[in-house]
Amino acid sequence: MDNNLVDINNILVIGCGGAGLRAAIEAKLNGLQVTVLGKRNKNDAHTVLAAGGINAAFGNVDPEDNWEYHFIDTFLEGYGLGDPEQIEIMAKESPFYVKEIDQWGANFKKLENNKFDQRYFGAHKFRRTCYSGDFTGQSILNALLRKIKILNIPIYDSEYVSDLFVKDNICFGAMSLNILTGERTAHLADAVIICTGGHTRIWKNSSSRKNENTGDGYHLGLKAGCELSDMEMVQFHPTGMVLPKELSGTLVTEAVRGEGGILLNSQGQRFMSRYDSKRLELSTRDRVAMANYNEIIEGRGTENGGVFLDISHKSKDFIIEKIPKIYRQFIEYSLIDISKNPMEVCPTAHYSMGGIRVNPSDHSTKIKGLFAAGEVASGLHGANRLGGNSLAEILIFGSHAGRSASKFSKSLSSQMRSNKILSLAHEYLNSSISKGDENVYLLKSELRDIMWKNCGVIRDEVNLNKGLEKLNHLEKLLPEIDIRLENNNQNDLINKLDLHSSLITAKVTILSALERKESRGSHQRSDFKETEDDYKLNINAKIEDNKFLIKKSIPKQMKNELISLLERYERAEEVSHKLIE
Ligand code: FUM
Repeated sequence: MDNNLVDINNILVIGCGGAGLRAAIEAKLNGLQVTVLGKRNKNDAHTVLAAGGINAAFGNVDPEDNWEYHFIDTFLEGYGLGDPEQIEIMAKESPFYVKEIDQWGANFKKLENNKFDQRYFGAHKFRRTCYSGDFTGQSILNALLRKIKILNIPIYDSEYVSDLFVKDNICFGAMSLNILTGERTAHLADAVIICTGGHTRIWKNSSSRKNENTGDGYHLGLKAGCELSDMEMVQFHPTGMVLPKELSGTLVTEAVRGEGGILLNSQGQRFMSRYDSKRLELSTRDRVAMANYNEIIEGRGTENGGVFLDISHKSKDFIIEKIPKIYRQFIEYSLIDISKNPMEVCPTAHYSMGGIRVNPSDHSTKIKGLFAAGEVASGLHGANRLGGNSLAEILIFGSHAGRSASKFSKSLSSQMRSNKILSLAHEYLNSSISKGDENVYLLKSELRDIMWKNCGVIRDEVNLNKGLEKLNHLEKLLPEIDIRLENNNQNDLINKLDLHSSLITAKVTILSALERKESRGSHQRSDFKETEDDYKLNINAKIEDNKFLIKKSIPKQMKNELISLLERYERAEEVSHKLIE
C-alpha cells in the first residue's frame, strides 16, 4: 500500500475552486513552481454555484456608492464580528479584481456606456453586485481556468488530500490519494495554501453537492495545529429548492429577489413586511432565512414545507435575460415555468463564515508555510455574510495568499523534510481501511440528519448536547465501516475519510454553538434570544492532546479612521431617520 510517488513544488495549492486557482496564478506570476490538487472536476468546482454576482463599489448605477459604504454594509451586517482589516482590504480592492477577471474573460454584463451593470443584493445600500446572468461563479471559474492554461499550471483534480506534512510547526507538503486509482503521492512544497471550501454539506438541507464542502479542509487545519474561529456561524440561505426531494436545498439565487422576486406564505401574504418593513425581501440573509423558517414552523408554509418565491409578475423575456439558469433549473427538475408560477423554497445551509484563523492581510496561519483562503478561512464575514462578497473574497484573498506564500518560499534557505511524518500520513490511510458491518453512506446521511435537527436554523442547549452525544456515537462506528477496495474502487475509503472530517468539523461546530450563549446573525438560540455585548467576541477551537479546546477572544480593535467612518455614518443615519419622522 505504501507506494511512494513524490512530487516537489515551491507552492502546493489544495482546492481547485476560485480561491485555489487565483492563489496558484499569483504564485506562478511570482515566478514559482506551483501545483493545484482538487477532489472535484476542475470545471465544476463549487464556485460554479455562487450564482448571483460579485460585489465591487464602482458606483456605476448608484453613483453615491464607494468603498466606505461597502465596508460599512459588510461590517454592520456581520454583527461586529468581521475583521475590520480584512473587510477594508476587500472593500478597497474588489474593483481591481473584478476588472481583472473581466479582462481575463469573465465577461460581466455591461451598461450602454460599457461600464459594469450592478444589481441589488440583500442588505447592500446600493446596487453593487456585478454579474453574468445567474452564472457569475461559472464565468469567473472559466476565466481563471483559461488563465491557468495560458500559464501552464498543472491541476490534478482527482486527488483527495488526507494529511498535511507538519513538523516543528512548519508545513512542508501534503499526502494525496488518487480517487480513481488509489495511488498515493507525497507532495513536498515550501508552502501550502488550503482553499478547500467550507462544511455546509454536513446539513441535510444544503446548497452543496455530495462531495463538496464536507469540512475536510478544517480537519486538515486542526490536525496541523491551526485554530478554527466562529464555526457556529453557518449561513442558511433563505431560498433553497424544496422539490424534487433528491435536490432539496439546491440554491435559488438571491438574484431572483434582487430582480424583483417576492416571498409569499400559503395565505398569500407578503410576510417580509412583518420582519423588515424597509428592506423586505432584500433584508439580510439571516433575517430572510429566519422569516421563511418562522412562516413554515408557525404553519403558514406550503404543504411541502416551504414558502413561495414569486417572480411571475415579470415578463418571460426579462426572467430569461436576468436569471436564465434558475428558469431552466425549475423547468428541468420541477416542471415549473417560473414566468407563470411561483417557486417553493426553504432555508438551506449555504456558507461557512467561520474557519481557519488567518492573519487578515497575508492569510498566513499560525503554522509556518501554511496559508488559507476562501470559504475555509475565517474573518471576513463575521456573523452573517452579505451575498456577493464570497466571489470577491476568493479572488482578492486567493491572490493575497498566493503572494505571501511565494514570499515565504523565496525567503527559505533550506526546506523541512521528515520521513517519519510521511510514514504517519501513510499510517492514517492504512488504518482507515477498516472491515465491519457499518455502511459509510448511511452514516453520512445520519450525520446530516443530526446536524439539521440538532444544530439547524434555531438551536438550544438541550438539542445541541443531544447532537453531540449522537456524533460521539457515530464516531465510535468509524472503525466498523466496511471498506471494499475491490476493482480499484476507492469510493468507500474516500467517503470514510470525508465522514471522519465531517464528524470532527460537526463536533467543533456544536461545541462552538454551545459556547455562544446568545443569538447573533446566523447563530440563533431559542434559549438565549438576545444579542449580548459580552459576546462580541470570537469563539476559537483547536485540538490539544487529542481533545477539543474552545476559547473566546476579543476581536481586534478597529483603527481610528474606520471608527470615525462608522460614527459619521451612524450620525448621518440618525439625521435621516429624524427627517423621515
Ligand atoms: O444567492 C446567490 O446567488 C448566492 C450568492 C452568494 O452566496 O454570494
